[in-house]
Amino acid sequence: MANTVTVLGSLNVDTTSKIEKIPLPGETISSLSRSSAAGGKGANQAIAAVRAGAKVNFIGKIGKDDAGHFMIDCLKEDHVNTTHITEDEVAGTGAATILLDKKGQNSIVVYGGANQRVTAADIDAATEQIKTSDFVVAQFETPQKAALEMFKIAKDNGVTTILNPAPAAEILPELLKVTDVIVPNETESATLTGIKVTDEDSMLANYQAFKKMGVANLIITVGDKGAFYANDNSHEFLPAFKVKPVDTTAAGDTFIGALSSQLKPDFSNMTDAINFAQHASSLTVQRMGAMPSIPKLAEIQAVAEK
Ligand code: RIB
Repeated sequence: MANTVTVLGSLNVDTTSKIEKIPLPGETISSLSRSSAAGGKGANQAIAAVRAGAKVNFIGKIGKDDAGHFMIDCLKEDHVNTTHITEDEVAGTGAATILLDKKGQNSIVVYGGANQRVTAADIDAATEQIKTSDFVVAQFETPQKAALEMFKIAKDNGVTTILNPAPAAEILPELLKVTDVIVPNETESATLTGIKVTDEDSMLANYQAFKKMGVANLIITVGDKGAFYANDNSHEFLPAFKVKPVDTTAAGDTFIGALSSQLKPDFSNMTDAINFAQHASSLTVQRMGAMPSIPKLAEIQAVAEK
């Protein structure tokens, strides 16, 4: 049976400018092209999970504006349950400005807006959805206090928690204690542990550091190189599938959403779930935009069978 996943997270309208190279301080450059699409780490992860076969609930906040309604319509189109997306009276819907260079690498500036105004009370209102999920997922584009409230409800009800600490920020120690799986990229991992990720030994040292903070399972995503998984019983590095990237936006989000759709709550299929998630993100990087680039189950299965 498909997993039920509840995602707490951000909803952003992304504006992407394609450029030759990232401008220097004080430099003005021309954009080669400009496009707009639905994004936000939370919304991307929810879409990745639902397109990979999960049943998905979303908890988040929009402004009272057209951008917010656009975001809700995008999630509804993919049958994400949006009952617990509320409208904020003060701030506008989140937005991201993305600079994309010729190699598909990006730099992102995010206006948090309404995303930053999700409260513990918003989470409590979604208690029933949280309790009946297999996994809950959170990132750091919504307040950590809201993630803490969701993870506490999840843990009290035997639901597995996945934390994507992106963008990297100091973490509430109590949040780590209710996190089952932490999924940083190599930069975020090093920021949080103080241990630079250079090789498998350093990844294992990162795991030991997270374990001391109270997290039993670590997955580090290492861009086009692959992903490292560690817990007390095993650890391994799974290489990525080589493709030519067009736009890496939402690659990490696709990995997390796809993983949450496939992973068994006892983690017995961890290797298969990571490989599936890597196939999904290898498709995302070959297309433009965040949400529009995220693949559906049949496409992921097709590349996985090759
Ligand atoms: O992870 C990619 C996302 O980060 C973009 O869609 C943008 O909205 C920012 O939140």
